[in-house]
Amino acid sequence: MAILVTGGAGFIGSNFVLDWLRLGLGPVVNLDKLTYAGNLKNLASVSDHPDYHFVRADICDRDAVQAVLTEHDVMAVINFAAETHVDRSIHSPGEFLRTNVQGMFALLEAVRGYVDGLGGDGDAFRLINVSTDEVYGSLGPNDPPFTETSGYYPSSPYSASKAAADHLCRSYFVTYGLPIVTTNCSNNYGPYQFPEKLIPLMIRNATRGDELPVYGDGGNVRDWLFVGDHCAAIREVLECGRVGETYNIGGNAERTNIEVVEALCDILADFADGGGSSRYRDLITFVTDRPGHDRRYAVDACKIRDELGWEPTESFESGLRRTVKWYLDNEAWIQSVETGEYREWLDANYELRASTS
Ligand code: NAD
Ligand code: DAU
Repeated sequence: MAILVTGGAGFIGSNFVLDWLRLGLGPVVNLDKLTYAGNLKNLASVSDHPDYHFVRADICDRDAVQAVLTEHDVMAVINFAAETHVDRSIHSPGEFLRTNVQGMFALLEAVRGYVDGLGGDGDAFRLINVSTDEVYGSLGPNDPPFTETSGYYPSSPYSASKAAADHLCRSYFVTYGLPIVTTNCSNNYGPYQFPEKLIPLMIRNATRGDELPVYGDGGNVRDWLFVGDHCAAIREVLECGRVGETYNIGGNAERTNIEVVEALCDILADFADGGGSSRYRDLITFVTDRPGHDRRYAVDACKIRDELGWEPTESFESGLRRTVKWYLDNEAWIQSVETGEYREWLDANYELRASTS
């Protein structure tokens, strides 16, 4: 029986598909619209794998999703398909509402129709709603980390759209008994992350000698998790998570943005021959802040540890080094995603951000 991964050509989805096939866990269908963030090159190594199937479709297309569920005898859906970049949601929120809210609604309806048709066999079906810690809003410096019972206070159109999706999922569990489990994860990093996000953007810029644009004072805190650990957590939730529950996933690795950027500069200097870290650190430029910029995220991941035995295996230091190495070894991948659309995005986002250094 197959699993359906939606959004499997993006950053986390493609890591999930690659790990799933590497571990020999069975057939996987990847349904992806291939937006600017979706890249089939991520999956080139498995494109001929007998257990891998790709379908280009939009999760907003309920009939297309339901046809795939039926055709491939799907027993679980893991939804990664989303618009995911906070800055883009500030520039153009409409696409976030379309994919993240209407798309989730269409997906839920497709799954509901399909599971109804399975009869008693539907008990084993699972829908994993891959969500974010951003739905909880911003923490103060001394607040305890988010737990699964923290209130929802989204700050950006992105996090509001993900919060709406979470609420829809919960309502489909409560009202229709749809077997859904939600995960709320902290910031991921690792191979195949689109270079609009902090870590790959900084690596890309540093290797080109471009400025490293740090928003505000650089004191915003994120809790970083290596992408492979996130994928492992989702596999645990899929296998043993209780339906109707939510599980927080985090790296227990809070860092300020400036700490992250400086660490990247040091690792890059270490890899480069002869250069000191100042050669990269000199590129750091403080720029106008992101509107509504959440100050701090931190995740309490005790529930998934205590119930399912999951814990991160990669430390932030080793994961960051591994990630830098991957980007240095895969310069062609960065170049291949640098489409005209990507360059237009960089112009639109950073031209407006005056330097405050
Ligand atoms: P991404 O932007 O790298 O990839 C998103 C993928 O979804 C792309 O392949 C894209 O083509 C596809 N997609 C977009 N709209 C679609 C549509 N309408 N129909 C079908 N496919 C569509 O995203 P990511 O960083 O891999 O995030 C995956 C999921 O994990 C998202 O739901 C995100 O909210 C969640 N998440 C991400 C992080 C993180 O740090 N990246 C952390 C926690 C949760
Ligand atoms: O917390 C989970 C979330 O993490 C996911 O749900 C999102 O999909 C994902 O994009 C990420 O959101 P962030 O906004 O935290 O990620 P981003 O990489 O955009 O930014 C990380 C931090 O770095 C944030 O505080 C803003 C800052 N930043 C970002 C960019 C792109 C900069 O200072 N300069 C930059 O150029």
